[in-house]
Amino acid sequence: MIYKKSLLVIYERSLKEKISKKLKDYYPDRKLSIRDMTLVKNVRAMVLRFDLFEDNHKANEIYVKILEKGAKEQVLELKNLNEYKDLLLMPRIIDFFEDFNAVVMEGVKGGTLSKALVFYTLPIVGNFYEVRLLDYARKIGRGLGLLHKFTERRKLRIGDMNLGMITGVKVSPYIRTLLGVDLFNNILNRIEEIEDEKASFVQVHRDPTPHNILVKRDEVHLVDFAFKRGASFEDTLAFSIGLELMENRLPFFSKSLLEEMKHLFFNYYEEFFHHPFEEDFWSFLKLLRCLQQLIVYNQRKTSLKNYILESIDKKYLLDRIWELSLKLNLR
Ligand SMILES: Nc1ncnc2c1ncn2[C@@H]1O[C@H](COP(=O)(O)OP(=O)(O)O)[C@@H](O)[C@H]1O
Ligand SMILES: [Mg+2]
Repeated sequence: MIYKKSLLVIYERSLKEKISKKLKDYYPDRKLSIRDMTLVKNVRAMVLRFDLFEDNHKANEIYVKILEKGAKEQVLELKNLNEYKDLLLMPRIIDFFEDFNAVVMEGVKGGTLSKALVFYTLPIVGNFYEVRLLDYARKIGRGLGLLHKFTERRKLRIGDMNLGMITGVKVSPYIRTLLGVDLFNNILNRIEEIEDEKASFVQVHRDPTPHNILVKRDEVHLVDFAFKRGASFEDTLAFSIGLELMENRLPFFSKSLLEEMKHLFFNYYEEFFHHPFEEDFWSFLKLLRCLQQLIVYNQRKTSLKNYILESIDKKYLLDRIWELSLKLNLR
């Protein structure tokens, strides 16, 4: 959603006022005030950052994100899990503004895992940082496993979950043209089959890919929670394929490190939540996730800088799609 400038100013002003008034409730023992406000992002969703000062020192940051309608219940469910926030790797959720559909969160520190992967895998730093990367993978596996465990209520027919990775592919003329009608129809038939299967319907992060994971020394946090319910496999797919895309992109990110990270991620995930997939079923889900990623890249208006990286990804995704569809006898 792109916001008009005038609307933006009104939003910013009223959010600032609202938060200023409530700072005392959020932090009863402290004398905080808002010093600066920054529009962090205004592409898919609006994200604002408020810098909080105490005695002339910057003390804290608060992030406010405007969500799609209908997120309230999910935000409150995660807010109730604040005491586990360190294990869930989530920023503390402070408030939800119903009139704005906005979640108010504490800021977490760190740079993206994508950037960390660039530097930590350089030959010049040796394998000192491998230990740290492996620890991130463990923590993320545990965090997502716990998120799913804490929020699972029932199983649901996959076809009734309205999953973007399925609904998007089904109606995409781009994918249809790209794959050719035969392969596309075979994929549609296979989708119909899996739609009758049941899967865990949990609160998902939705996009735990390296650009939504913030790391600092041994700390790791997930940002950009979807506050939506979905299929548990959406998160495990997003993490593993997100990491594979990075391995493909980075010349010094070795296959063995990638495999070890994924191995630890799944091991720790499975300590808390089941991941019972037959190989073919999992391969087909991977195929769908790759198709969904291709659609995302195709819709994005790219700058030249991004274009270069995204072209590499597109080629990789296409290769994966051919490989998986062959393995699954879809072509
Ligand atoms: N709680 C938070 N703490 C620190 N940084 C955050 C927080 N929430 C968002 N951010 C920063 O804002 C950026 C955009 O927020 P995000 O929720 O990822 O929006 P989008 O859906 O547009 O990707 C993130 O990449 C991150 O840098
Ligand atoms: Mg993001």
